Amino acid sequence: MMKIFCIANQKGGVGKTTTTVNLAAGLARIGQRVLLVDLDPQGNATMGSGVDKRAMALSVYDVLLESASVAEAATVPDKLKEAGAGYAVLGANRELAGAEVELVGEERRERRLKDALAAVSADYDFVLIDCPPSLSMLTLNGLCAAQGVIVPMQCEYFALEGLADLTNTIKQVHANLNRDLRLIGLLRVMFDPRITLQQQVSEQLKAHYGDKVFDTIIPRNVRLAEAPSYGLPGVVFDPRPRAARPSSPSPARWWNAVCVDEFFKPNRPSAPAHQAQPAI
Ligand SMILES: Nc1ncnc2c1ncn2[C@@H]1O[C@H](COP(=O)(O)OP(=O)(O)OP(=O)(O)O)[C@@H](O)[C@H]1O
Ligand SMILES: [Mg+2]
Repeated sequence: MMKIFCIANQKGGVGKTTTTVNLAAGLARIGQRVLLVDLDPQGNATMGSGVDKRAMALSVYDVLLESASVAEAATVPDKLKEAGAGYAVLGANRELAGAEVELVGEERRERRLKDALAAVSADYDFVLIDCPPSLSMLTLNGLCAAQGVIVPMQCEYFALEGLADLTNTIKQVHANLNRDLRLIGLLRVMFDPRITLQQQVSEQLKAHYGDKVFDTIIPRNVRLAEAPSYGLPGVVFDPRPRAARPSSPSPARWWNAVCVDEFFKPNRPSAPAHQAQPAI
């Protein structure tokens, strides 16, 4: 069955897009059929997957307004295929900002994405949705479509406070709009173990959220920051000469650990055969 996950956090710049593109590429590399949905008018996941957001004929905007299907609007970028991580991209650009207004007063406005994805349920194993940094109608479309939410976060002072808002929203959507929705996990990203505050926040996170905190941590890494400007996920972007590669850590290893160890853990809702999970 196709798994649909939202990568969400209303805080800006916390690593949502980086998480989405690298998980998409990591899952594609282990043979999963993946669709990335960019729900952010900034179009960063689109560009970071090698699609020119200004040159798209159709985008997620057309899908939300029901003038195109997912199959018509999604493309697999050649660059990703060549890199051995071919996943499909349903892109976004600034046009998407208008959808929010255009959907006001429309029927089923928060379920547009869910309904559109139902038509491709046999075509993909995973759909990963990159949400904008807000709890808007766009994010709500993502949460209504998904079975799980992955929350990337930096271990900083205000992170815990923002997290309470997000988990409340998830609970409300669970109660009122989407009974399938679960918090899958919190992913600590851009982590620097030398910073004491980050260690403290990390410990607080574990104390509050227990095993919802993924064991895998994504460290701060310059290649993950550089990769988007090459239109490639960090998982497949490696500018180093081959001889230099074994000596330093590879981002691919961390993201593979999230894909394999976290997603396929037997008791996670993301795992292929899972038992019923308690609500968050
Ligand atoms: N592990 C990392 N190491 C170094 N830089 C990183 C890492 N993860 C993300 N970045 C950089 O941090 C910045 C913010 O990341 P990203 O765009 O993924 O966040 P976001 O939550 O999607 O932002 P927004 O809320 O604007 O959509 C980007 O410049 C990205 O390249
Ligand atoms: Mg983003």
